[in-house]
Amino acid sequence: MPVFLHASLDLPIYRAPDSRLSSSPSSSFSSSSLPTLGSSTSHGFSSGIEEPRLCRQVRRRGRAEPLSRCSSAARRAVGQGMAEAFNRHTKGNAHIVLVGRNEQAAQKVIAKMRAARGASSTGSGSYTFAPCDISLMANVRHSAADILAAHPRVNFLVVTAGVLGANSPTTADGIDRTAALHYYSRWQFFHEMLPGLRAARDAGEDAKAVSVYSAGDGGGMDTLANYNDLMCESFAERNPGIVFAHASPGAVRTNLLKASDSWLLHAIDVVLPLMRPITVSQDECGEYLWSGLYRAAASGGSGAVTGAFRIGSKGQELGMDRYYGSPEERRGVWSHTVKVTKTRDADP
Ligand SMILES: NC(=O)c1ccc[n+]([C@@H]2O[C@H](COP(=O)([O-])OP(=O)(O)OC[C@H]3O[C@@H](n4cnc5c(N)ncnc54)[C@H](OP(=O)(O)O)[C@@H]3O)[C@@H](O)[C@H]2O)c1
Repeated sequence: MPVFLHASLDLPIYRAPDSRLSSSPSSSFSSSSLPTLGSSTSHGFSSGIEEPRLCRQVRRRGRAEPLSRCSSAARRAVGQGMAEAFNRHTKGNAHIVLVGRNEQAAQKVIAKMRAARGASSTGSGSYTFAPCDISLMANVRHSAADILAAHPRVNFLVVTAGVLGANSPTTADGIDRTAALHYYSRWQFFHEMLPGLRAARDAGEDAKAVSVYSAGDGGGMDTLANYNDLMCESFAERNPGIVFAHASPGAVRTNLLKASDSWLLHAIDVVLPLMRPITVSQDECGEYLWSGLYRAAASGGSGAVTGAFRIGSKGQELGMDRYYGSPEERRGVWSHTVKVTKTRDADP
């Protein structure tokens, strides 16, 4: 599944220990509560910074993706691996919302999670599918509003939707589709779900948002990876007490190559099974990334910004390894994104 959220209303299963060194997810609550904080913190950022180069490159006019696309082929995705792992950890006692275009695939994952939740479940969790082509910002806003209406507190927000291909048409928002999926929609989801994350934080529960993309792969190779780092820092600065993480899944045997429009990537997909020694399954990836996310405490973080994390494919903290950015770029990318996504209520 491309995007999913874990809204744990009456059952906040996990509480991050106040130490980044603790090894495994805790299934019990800590009695110490996080400080109750205001709903947002303004740091008075300047909006007069020039639009970053990539942003100018990616804004072009074009068409949107179709809302639904069904496939009967077996589907594998990092998002599915993470959803199923979380379902195992919580033994079905959590409210899980899968967000995406493909209802048929989502319902299969939901059926699998229902079957796996086991006898120890109290049955008070739930599974929902929210239809959304997230390449369009208006869709993200509507979808987030619907989810928040049903789940006012959100403990974990996981965004994974992505594409890999030779062609990347422009969406109806005028944004390159790959950039829309790998960066702008993630920023928009983080922003729109802030009320739910803040409500969880203020209730003394875990409040964590993660963008699974390519932490540690930035620089000239992938500017969108830099943007994801800067995005997490900007949200963390404005929202103390909430964890914002950019994670790398590593090499995972998913549908990413098969779904591509590139014959070269299709060819690599054919030999993917031979690469088992250097790749992981979606389930292994899910476990690794959750281990990193559970350990991430809002009082810690990578580098200078408290609450912002960069998580590697084994769940390890990447710190500032292969980090490319600066406070000026962080402010510039924030202003640019507010403008491109036409977000009216963003913190300055
Ligand atoms: N797999 C890897 O080895 C690897 C390595 C490095 C980074 N990553 C990154 O990790 C993320 C997850 O990758 P993955 O391997 O899970 O990819 P995947 O198997 O192709 O899954 C991506 C999901 O995104 C969904 N999606 C695509 N366009 C969408 C849209 N417009 N609206 C809603 N959903 C959309 C697809 O759903 P439908 O097409 O069914 O709608 C698909 O389920 C991606 O950002 C990828 O770039 C992956």
